[in-house]
Amino acid sequence: MSEKPVIVVTRQLPDAGMQLLAEAADVETRVWPHDLPPSRTDLIELLQGATAAITLVTDPVDGPLLDVLPGLKAVANCAVGYDNIDVPAATERGVLITNTPGVLTETTADFAFALVISAARRIVEAADYVREGHWKTWSPNLFLGQDLHDATIGIVGFGRIGQEVAKRATGFSMRILTIDRGKRPDVPFAVEYTDLDSLLRESDFVCLTVALNDDTRGMIGARELGLMKPTAMLINAARGPVVQTDALVEALINRTIAAAALDVTDPEPLPVDHPLVSMPNCTIAPHIASATVATRSKMATMAVNNALAAVRGERPVNLVNTEAWKS
Ligand code: GLV
Repeated sequence: MSEKPVIVVTRQLPDAGMQLLAEAADVETRVWPHDLPPSRTDLIELLQGATAAITLVTDPVDGPLLDVLPGLKAVANCAVGYDNIDVPAATERGVLITNTPGVLTETTADFAFALVISAARRIVEAADYVREGHWKTWSPNLFLGQDLHDATIGIVGFGRIGQEVAKRATGFSMRILTIDRGKRPDVPFAVEYTDLDSLLRESDFVCLTVALNDDTRGMIGARELGLMKPTAMLINAARGPVVQTDALVEALINRTIAAAALDVTDPEPLPVDHPLVSMPNCTIAPHIASATVATRSKMATMAVNNALAAVRGERPVNLVNTEAWKS
């Protein structure tokens, strides 16, 4: 058996991350070689003897899993969100959890705002129409959408990503609403603070950028969708389970709201025969908001550096459960 600490990577990372691991002469690296994530059984097997794991949002990590991996000291999630990890269970067991904040903020906000524009102007629907050979002439009523300029955007989750979405919205002269949670970040543009119900009632676009936790799971259901304007559009760049999927299906069928654009779904992936997949007023992207060459390289580098720090006994920079750190 190797004397070196083992870092397990649950999928091939962008080259920048893999290279950093290859250059770390003091660790051994083991990589799950397949395109699809390991099953739970595969994950347990893969992680045998590991000192640290570099995981993705597709790898659920919980107490029972950690119990069969007593040598595991750290889990470095290659994502800013870490709802795939039971952090209190990790903390109880002294396992360090890290994430990749900051480096994906603008990239994710760019994509969230791209979904806003795409929904408003029906870009995907219109492109499909051309691709399918339906375009016969210019027509005064073809693909009429909604204006972005001077419209109201309600941003649910005014953290790093939400604030960047708001910054982009200012470029479109939009009115910006968010929820008053007591903290009012210092931003150089006008934001109106309100409660969720008023935000839903007043917004032309509702953009979700909240973290998934016990407070936000299922926060957008039939009642909330019912408060939205029939012309309003829902954008989810947060996590799928923030929205109740069945309620969204109903709302789109009944035209309670006009459209949805989702980077995340519940479940993920959605089965291809799921009603949302074929609805013309619903655009679904395969969870790619942070997917640019530069940003995914930064995320991989950050996750690898966090894992390397942990196996070297150093405090990882992006430690989530600081209470698990024993210096
Ligand atoms: C991706 O969804 C992330 O949390 O980074």
